[in-house]
Amino acid sequence: MNEIISFIDSNKERYLSELKEFLAIPSVSSIKEHNADTRKCAEWVANQMRTVGMQNVRIFETPGHPVVYSEWMGAPGKPTVLFYGHYDVQPVDPLNLWTSPPFEATIRGENLYARGSADDKGQVYIHFKAIEAFMKQQGKLPVNLKMIIEGEEEVGSEHLEQFVKDHRDLLSADLVLISDSSMFAKGVPSVCYGLRGLAYMEIEVTGPNRDLHSGSFGGSVHNPIQALAEMIASLHDKNGRITVKGFYRDVRPLTKKERAAYKKLPWNDKQYAKDLGVAKLYGEKGFTTLERLWARPTLECNGIWGGYTGEGAKTVLPSKAFAKISMRLVPDQNSQKIAKLFQQHFQRIAPKTVHVKVKALHGGEPAITPIDSPGVQAAATALEKGFGKTPLYQREGGSIPIVVQFKKILGLDTVLLGFGLPDENAHAPDEHINLDNFFGGIRTSVHFYNELPGYWGKGKRK
Ligand code: BES
Ligand code: ZN
Repeated sequence: MNEIISFIDSNKERYLSELKEFLAIPSVSSIKEHNADTRKCAEWVANQMRTVGMQNVRIFETPGHPVVYSEWMGAPGKPTVLFYGHYDVQPVDPLNLWTSPPFEATIRGENLYARGSADDKGQVYIHFKAIEAFMKQQGKLPVNLKMIIEGEEEVGSEHLEQFVKDHRDLLSADLVLISDSSMFAKGVPSVCYGLRGLAYMEIEVTGPNRDLHSGSFGGSVHNPIQALAEMIASLHDKNGRITVKGFYRDVRPLTKKERAAYKKLPWNDKQYAKDLGVAKLYGEKGFTTLERLWARPTLECNGIWGGYTGEGAKTVLPSKAFAKISMRLVPDQNSQKIAKLFQQHFQRIAPKTVHVKVKALHGGEPAITPIDSPGVQAAATALEKGFGKTPLYQREGGSIPIVVQFKKILGLDTVLLGFGLPDENAHAPDEHINLDNFFGGIRTSVHFYNELPGYWGKGKRK
């Protein structure tokens, strides 16, 4: 292993300049104007796979953005890892809040700044470099490896489920590996064993059939912005609990063991509030911050618009108001069931003065992965070797919708080995990745692939 680690150490500059190329492609999956860029990015990924020594590289078309596949199957008798990641990124707006342009990766201090640097191109690239290091130094990998890198994760992985169903044999493996999450904190590596799910809704409230003069008509009709604001305000009670009827029915309670384990983690509410610039934290009564983040469901208004928002004043009583609302879900909630409950609830609370339409945009299921599996044990050892510290076990508040499908369709458990940090501004201006974690991630990935066969031998094998 020494020669591989020193190969990594002596290639750092090259890694950064290549990663900058990957990050320069604006593969924003949700914006049609970027469709050509997103395809170009899939091609970049395919080329990179070929360059590092992966075989049978293929770009699969879907009704949306392509899935890039490759494999290296030269280790008979050794476990097969299915690595999953995504090459698409979130939109960059508000652009004016970026210190440097989002698609011109820039190093400042100990970080590399660009859209996708942490979520998830930087983390996918970590694995390309781990593979390359093995191939260059040993001519082979210690495990069999299949990779699928998709282009629609940030829009709910709409077509990936069908892709997995259509390619069961091609994707057969022993476990799934994903690097698309964060470590607990800088210098505190962790293995993640839980993700929340998601149900994303859009609401359209219509009042009068056209925009009205707010003087001539104001006072005679219910302003749709006001009606929408009243409805949204009623979605939480005074204890921070969600009022949607039936919302908590399937929530799996936290176990005593988990609650005790979370209490032992190095966490400070005051520091957290200070970092976020809030005077006081807010959340569901009766739960700690980590519990609220990882194991309790939430409802957030992501955006709200309507009426006049341009420069200066315009006196108008608008015809329409809109909002986007997402709910993060925990086991054993189901995204479609929750979307339905939300729709019913919203129709129930809608005042007669306005017309309300509720649309479900996309969803994903929550996931818990077993922590006593050989894959997770190999990941823990790899983190220990890569970062020199024993890792913690944690859950995450974010979602990776395909994790549950990998279990349902392929019967595979997932190892979540994340190298981001919680404060790296994923989905926000100035997204970045910490360079120590980036290089530590390459070392850890190398150790993971190297350790896995030993753990697999000792553990269960289906
Ligand atoms: N990398 C994130 C998921 C994540 C975030 C894991 C934070 C752990 C911690 C992923 O790319 C993501 O953002 N997913 C979306 C999924 C959604 C669009 C269905 C999310 O969580 O909003
Ligand atoms: Zn993301």
